Parts: sequence; C-alpha cells; structure tokens
Amino acid sequence: MNRMPLLLTGIFLTFFSAWLGLVAMPYIHLGRFKPQVDDVTREETPPPFSGEALQGATIYAANGCIYCHSQQVRPLEAGADLERGWGARRTVARDYMRDKVAYFGTSRTGPDLSNIGARQPSAEWHYQHLYQPQVVSKGSIMPAFKFLFEKRRISGQPSADAIKMQPPDEAEPGWEIVPTREGKQLVAYLLSLKRSTYPLPEAPEETPAK
Ligand code: HEC
Repeated sequence: MNRMPLLLTGIFLTFFSAWLGLVAMPYIHLGRFKPQVDDVTREETPPPFSGEALQGATIYAANGCIYCHSQQVRPLEAGADLERGWGARRTVARDYMRDKVAYFGTSRTGPDLSNIGARQPSAEWHYQHLYQPQVVSKGSIMPAFKFLFEKRRISGQPSADAIKMQPPDEAEPGWEIVPTREGKQLVAYLLSLKRSTYPLPEAPEETPAK
C-alpha cells in the first residue's frame, strides 16, 4: 500500500499547525496594536520614540545590556517588581508596540530598566554611571562603558556636553570627557524608557501592600 500521501499530509499538518501557533496566532493577537489616544490632549500612549532613542536601542543591543537587564515588570502576584519600585503597574504587550525589537531580557544581574527614564531622569547621572558605574552607585559590578566617551583636549571653550567626573576618573587639566554620538543615543534611549508611567486600560495601576 502506498502511504506516501498520508505521510506528506502528516508532515504538512505538523508544520502548518506550528506555523499557525507560532506565527499566525501571535500576529493576529499582537501585530495590530493601536496607541491609546487621550480624548482631550490627543496625546498618544505609549509615546513614540525619538529618532535618537531608536538609534540608542541598537546601541543597547550591541553592548549586551540585555544580558544583565530586563525590561518587563511582572504583575503583583508574580513577583516583587512593583515593591522594588520598578514600575507602577505590570507591563503589557501594548507597551512594546513602538519597539522594533523588544528587549525583554531574562537575566537580572542589574535592575529592570522598563521605567528607568522616570526613575532616573538625569542625563548627567547616566553619563557618569556609564563612564564609571561605581562613582554614582557604590560597589556596582556593572562594567564601565568608557568607549562610549571621548577624552579630548579642550580647544577654546570647554564643550557643553563635557561630563563632570571626580578624581581619579576626572580628565587631566586642559582635557575633557564628552559622550560620543553612540553614548548620547544610548542615554536618549534610556531616558525614553517610561513604560508604566502612562495608563493603559488593560493594565491598571497596582499598589503593593505596605
Ligand atoms: C554584567 C552585567 C551588566 C551589564 C552588561 C550592564 N549592566 Fe547595567 N547594571 C548592572 C548592575 C549590577 C547594576 C546595579 C548597580 C548599579 O547601579 O551600577 C546596574 C545598573 C544599571 C542602571 C541603573 C539602574 C537603577 O535602577 O538605578 C542603568 C541605567 C544601567 N545599569 C544601564 C545599563 C546599560 C545601558 C548597559 C549596556 C550599555 C548595562 N547597564 C550593562 C549590571 C550590568
């Protein structure tokens, strides 16, 4: 008896059901989100990223920040993320609709960054932290990303972008430390991460019990 047609149908159905489950269904459920528009201000949430922040996301990927940082806040019943102050509510799929690639992350050697732009809104802090994490965070084990900065001789006026470091990280007299284009883009990205500062109907604010 020729079982070839049966075998081929079986193979087809196996791959087709995998495609349905892994490609088609997620696309139908998650592929067509629309932003929430405020009736009065017409403001859109989640807000769009600036071009600089979008570039910064690629720097985030290229430097392996994802190996130590997650970008997802778990609901109250699933963990202590809200108690740690990592967000005002859980993150949901729509929070990531503006991301080209969502950097959820699986490891938390460092804190979750879903909301770092709201938790730490100072660009200067981020620059100092990236240049030498231990300066602003005592005992930090985060590696320094000094190659996102340039040490250059001051010619004329010092640059407005120069970061202020203390000895021993300070630049020698007549020199200054300024972020490179990549450094600025990365910080623009970090400052734009404010995933649970805006309300979404599917994710109401949750307050951990004190
Ligand atoms: C080897 C692990 C590791 C890598 C890689 C890493 N970090 Fe960190 N990061 C940490 C740790 C640990 C902390 C907590 C101590 C501190 O604040 O420095 C931290 C803290 C931070 C904070 C402050 C968070 C807060 O809640 O105060 C930011 C922002 C940050 N990292 C950004 C980055 C970025 C951007 C990159 C990639 C360029 C990166 N990290 C790569 C381990 C890492």
